Amino acid sequence: MAGIKIIGLGKSQGDKVVTNDDLAQIVDTSDQWVRAKTGIKSRYFAENKTNEDMAFEAASQAIENAGIDRKEIAMCIVCTFTPDDYTPAVACNVAGRLGLLEQIQAYDINGACSGFIYGCNLANGLLACQQEKYALVIGSEKISPLMDMTDRGTCVLFGDGAGAAVLKYDPAADFVFYAGCAANKEILYCSRQDKAIKMAGQEVYRFAVSKVPECIKAVLDEAGYTDKEIDHFVCHQANERIIDNAARRISKDTDKFFKNLYDYGNTSAASIPIALCEMEEQGLLHAGSKLVCTGFGAGLTYGCMLVTFCPGSGASG
Ligand code: COA
Repeated sequence: MAGIKIIGLGKSQGDKVVTNDDLAQIVDTSDQWVRAKTGIKSRYFAENKTNEDMAFEAASQAIENAGIDRKEIAMCIVCTFTPDDYTPAVACNVAGRLGLLEQIQAYDINGACSGFIYGCNLANGLLACQQEKYALVIGSEKISPLMDMTDRGTCVLFGDGAGAAVLKYDPAADFVFYAGCAANKEILYCSRQDKAIKMAGQEVYRFAVSKVPECIKAVLDEAGYTDKEIDHFVCHQANERIIDNAARRISKDTDKFFKNLYDYGNTSAASIPIALCEMEEQGLLHAGSKLVCTGFGAGLTYGCMLVTFCPGSGASG
């Protein structure tokens, strides 16, 4: 169970707010349909920002909130399926802009919408092996260029943004991870040839409502906790109905399932760290908050982690 805790959070988003009504000018949809089916009211598109810009902004805020010397960060992992370029990795560019030490590891990983959970688990293992203290894990996505704006089944769902966490290794910290990959390249994908997200919505929906509660139950079982001992459940922000379905199956206290997809849409690997950052800004998190975070997405991947929030505990040990 030994592992990481989150000591600083940050977020960023695209520079243009796009409402459902805006999209209804482009495709045959309506605000009423999108809200009823997904909960989404608006999302941000990054017209004048790159993936790197958003990752940098989120990471800068996370480092400031963590209150650590950035030269102590041992790794920069960016979780993304939408890097600006094939190479260099977004993580290398962000590490350079942040002024991190040259002697770090910096790379991108692609776990789609489960990416941030996978990135945190990767950092946990690496920090433990290498006896290092701090990792920077960023979920950052610029999805808007990969949306088919003639496909109303997908173009209303996604948005651009980034969320970041500074993680501290602590042998006494609770950390539990559970993940899987139900290999499938037909129901949710974006090929290099088409450069547009394709999705069989109902099949993804069925996958999500089965896997999200399964993951949460597995993590609670391994940790030896009941839902009552968890302060917040933070699910990938894809669809309100998926989150509500999981909430009903896991806990009587469904308010513990935070939602902010109304204003962001689905930001893939960024959705969980953006949600965590908003929760902190809204005063929902306190030192020692126990969080269960769950992602699912293309791959088909799924992943869940139990992690503790200990804000700004960098300097104090
Ligand atoms: N506006 C209006 N109508 C729309 C629409 C839109 N944006 N998108 C689809 N429709 C129509 C369809 O064309 C279909 O019309 P028809 O009955 O005349 O053929 C009807 O609505 C129902 O479509 P369907 O795809 O069956 O809707 P749904 O109830 O499955 O809802 C999703 C669609 C995408 C909201 C839902 O399947 C979903 O959320 N799936 C999970 C997606 C997800 O989480 N993806 C991210 C994974 S990381």
